[in-house]
Amino acid sequence: RRTLRVALLGAGSVGSQVARLLLEHQSDLAERSGARLELAGILVRDIDAPRDAELPRELLTTDAEALIQSADIVIELMGGIEPARGYVLQALRSGADVVTGNKALLATHGAEIFEAADQVGASVSYEAAVAAAIPIIRPLRDSLAGDRIKRIFGIVNGSTNYILDSMDRQGLSAQEAQRIATELGYLEADPSLDLEGYDAAQKAAILASLAFHTQVSLDDVHRQGIESVTADMIADARRAGYVIKLLAVCERLSEDGGDAVSVRVYPALIDREHPMASVHGGNNAVFVEAEAAGPLMFYGAGAGGVQTASAVLGDVVSAARRHIAGGVGVGESARQSLPMAPFGHI
Ligand code: HSE
Repeated sequence: RRTLRVALLGAGSVGSQVARLLLEHQSDLAERSGARLELAGILVRDIDAPRDAELPRELLTTDAEALIQSADIVIELMGGIEPARGYVLQALRSGADVVTGNKALLATHGAEIFEAADQVGASVSYEAAVAAAIPIIRPLRDSLAGDRIKRIFGIVNGSTNYILDSMDRQGLSAQEAQRIATELGYLEADPSLDLEGYDAAQKAAILASLAFHTQVSLDDVHRQGIESVTADMIADARRAGYVIKLLAVCERLSEDGGDAVSVRVYPALIDREHPMASVHGGNNAVFVEAEAAGPLMFYGAGAGGVQTASAVLGDVVSAARRHIAGGVGVGESARQSLPMAPFGHI
């Protein structure tokens, strides 16, 4: 059986779980992918920093160049733009397949990264970048590739859903709810990314790009976070039969399937009878409306280290299978540029 060398960049709440599962499930992963997946090394900033899972010390390294150069598959879970962008480009140029959960990177430099992958016939997989464990990237990219998607909307940020839900159902203050969400590993290292809607906007940009075969970036997304949502507003909404949720809405505006798309993130009043009102805690739900398939709903854990690790490992197995089969790139270059519409309706 062939051995593929896997480099892991980042050992935070997701990365450390990915490392643990890669080591613990080694024989299952080999069976499923057709290759022995050897964890070649784990790039960390500080070898002695405390971690969520115990990792073999001999795998930890601070030498990014050497690690990336030696790998067949590079998993990037560092988050943020630099140095992640440079490392991903280096990995692709060396012919490695890349698996990433980095929504910020894809939402701001997606075009550059997909182009770099296309040039060398490498793949970039990113199921973990949106809605953690919920399969949504592959359904949009593959299962629905023959359909025409009209609209995607839903809850794509677990921590703000946890916060709003605990304020609504348990009467917690925003601060107390945020403290618990942090303990559960839901919030980004910089919580303002969640609270101000950036995280949801990045995910919305990624979903809209895939669904509408275009390149939507973070700057194209109209964004409003939950900072101004107070306990009083939530109580008023409750009395009126509503719940407040942070929504992402991506839609194609014209009926003929061409033209403009609109992508927005904002706190919305949801009727308590709507299935979205029952999305509690750190869960996410993504509703997809496609012309032929009709309405589809994707639901599950939307945040959390081990849940997100599940999505990463699925991508690693696919990348390994592709490597073994000598496959070609995913072909993101089919994207065209669609004009962005002004925002504001709905
Ligand atoms: N901070 C993110 C969230 C983590 O709350 O959804 C998962 O992407």
